Amino acid sequence: MTVPQEAVARVRQLREELERHNYLYYVLDEPEIPDAEYDKLFRELERLEAENPLLATPDSPTRRIGAAPLAEFSQLTHRVPMLSLNNAFEDEEVAAFDRRVREGLGVERVEYAVDPKFDGLAISLIYENGILLQGATRGDGYTGEDVTTNLRTIKAIPLRLHTTNPPQLLEVRGEVLILKADFEKLNHQQRNKGEKEFANPRNAAAGSLRQLDPRITATRPLTFFAYGLGSVEGVSLPRKLSAVMDYLESLRVPVCRERKVVQGVEGLLEYYRMIGARRDSLPYDIDGVVYKVDDLDSQERLGFVARAPRFAVAHKFPAQEAMTELLGITVQVGRTGALTPVARLKPVFVGGAMVSNATLHNEDEIRRKDVRIGDTVIVRRAGDVIPEVVGVVMGNRHSSAQEFSLLEQYPVCPVCGSHVIRLPDEAAARCSGGLFCPAQRKQAILHFSSRRAMDIEGMGDKLVDQLVDKELIHTPADLYKLGMTTLANLDRMAEKSASNTLAAIEASKKTTLARFIFALGIRNVGEATAKDLARHFGGLDALMAADEGALQQMPDVGPVVAQSIAQFFAEPHNREVIAQLVAAGVHWAEGAGSPISTSPISGKIFVLTGTLPNLTRDEAKERIEALGGKVTGSVSKKTDFVVAGAEAGSKLVKAKELGVVVLDEIQLKEMLGE
Ligand code: IVH
Repeated sequence: MTVPQEAVARVRQLREELERHNYLYYVLDEPEIPDAEYDKLFRELERLEAENPLLATPDSPTRRIGAAPLAEFSQLTHRVPMLSLNNAFEDEEVAAFDRRVREGLGVERVEYAVDPKFDGLAISLIYENGILLQGATRGDGYTGEDVTTNLRTIKAIPLRLHTTNPPQLLEVRGEVLILKADFEKLNHQQRNKGEKEFANPRNAAAGSLRQLDPRITATRPLTFFAYGLGSVEGVSLPRKLSAVMDYLESLRVPVCRERKVVQGVEGLLEYYRMIGARRDSLPYDIDGVVYKVDDLDSQERLGFVARAPRFAVAHKFPAQEAMTELLGITVQVGRTGALTPVARLKPVFVGGAMVSNATLHNEDEIRRKDVRIGDTVIVRRAGDVIPEVVGVVMGNRHSSAQEFSLLEQYPVCPVCGSHVIRLPDEAAARCSGGLFCPAQRKQAILHFSSRRAMDIEGMGDKLVDQLVDKELIHTPADLYKLGMTTLANLDRMAEKSASNTLAAIEASKKTTLARFIFALGIRNVGEATAKDLARHFGGLDALMAADEGALQQMPDVGPVVAQSIAQFFAEPHNREVIAQLVAAGVHWAEGAGSPISTSPISGKIFVLTGTLPNLTRDEAKERIEALGGKVTGSVSKKTDFVVAGAEAGSKLVKAKELGVVVLDEIQLKEMLGE
């Protein structure tokens, strides 16, 4: 069989290109060409190799996956044992380590190569004459499992070292892991496929590497970072670990960006704090940092005690995950009325603090993780994030473990006794006593007073905090009972501002039905829906009497919004507050919002774009709405008119595409009858 010379050259060129792009993409995360371009080169190589079987070699980029599933992994003996590290937790232990090293070497000051301690799986990779021949897990440190076919599927691991002069033997040691972002995606996929999610990136990496079918491993986003060498033959390497790592980098073996060389114990501790501060934002999980004497001859002189080197130590961060018992589940009511299930835990030390409560997020999460009271659970406390229950240790489950149903346990709000409902589209169950519930008080009063609602100037969060914390008001209705003395006695309230605030409260009594409906803070009822409701029902009594069916008669109200509104008005606590508001003198012109069916604008949908010569957008909007028109933000087939001013952009283009009538200011004014 003959092979054309051009094919030989092209295959070599394609492999080099693909290896380079692979490195740029999977290791440096700086791709130079689009995926489609890469795929094209890849297919060309596949084709040439198929046409010229003599050119197919095992180190070709096309040969990462291929082997059939194994029956079991075989055992491999490590040429140089894969030892473990001693741990340090406190600064004093690090100082003691540095002292022992200095005394052992008889020097004043030591240079250390430092890097993060990756939270993955230790592996060894054997390259003979530059070709990846074998890869193994750490196992017990002396023998591990042969996972070569799986390691070959990891794109960050070179099948061939990038050098024209490879060493006879080079054993690279490092850690296989899954980046945090890839882990999130992986779990998302698992969820979509209805398969079990992984508890953390480490478990996912371990499970993926130990698949007997390499085709499964190939679908998992594993990556790799080298941190050192095992046995080496036929090359004389630099005598500094940091320089050896640079050499590995030149061979396109992945090494992490965070590695450094530092001086003395101060340098070590500074590195520890620097990495600690960046821990949450690093792309991979770490559980500490590793300090190693940089000079390799010094390493040799220091040697080993038992199974760990004297020349290196792992300085650990507080563990972010711990196991403990789930004693019970209670709920917390948030500012918006959402009920969050909270795990009551047997206290456990995690992430540097004692934790006895952790969030369970919502009921769906409890189902998904199958968390039951009495279970042994895994709690995570990472950085500033609220502690959470991430999973259950199923092996520890007793038959007495109890399932939890939020709506069964909490048919009414534990804070105010209003009904708890869960809308079809929402993950959270909510208290429906929005106007009344103490948990939602501040939020409700702030929203009620806001500019687009009752427009009480000066009623900001500082003032609301004081009024609520001092129990001067409980619901929005109490605002209208406030007097001069009460207000003037508050912090940072001069007599002048107190009387201004009182005047603003008084002035807010005269309002519109639309503003009042919006001010109630009904879930899913924004300003636009409030206006629609006011116009449609014309009065508050009619709205409060409407059932879900009647509400859904409106064009933009679907089942979720209808349910939200009906539940709100069904709640006696809310009706009480509304009655108090009306009794306090809040009023509007009944019927004023009802449709003006004679106007040509009534029921028409407008979009405003660009700058009009004489009207601001708000003014134009107000006038259109006063005549029963509606103003929306984006142009669609439903849009009746686009009003375009100077520098109108994409909305105008869209209007023309869809054939929507475009008006200028003069035409709009004509329509408005002005
Ligand atoms: S150096 C002689 N560097 O930690 C041992 N190990 O407890 C040299 N590990 O299973 C090990 N990140 O897999 C070293 N940057 C790092 C590391 C690291 C993680 C793991 C390693 C081993 C364990 C040792």
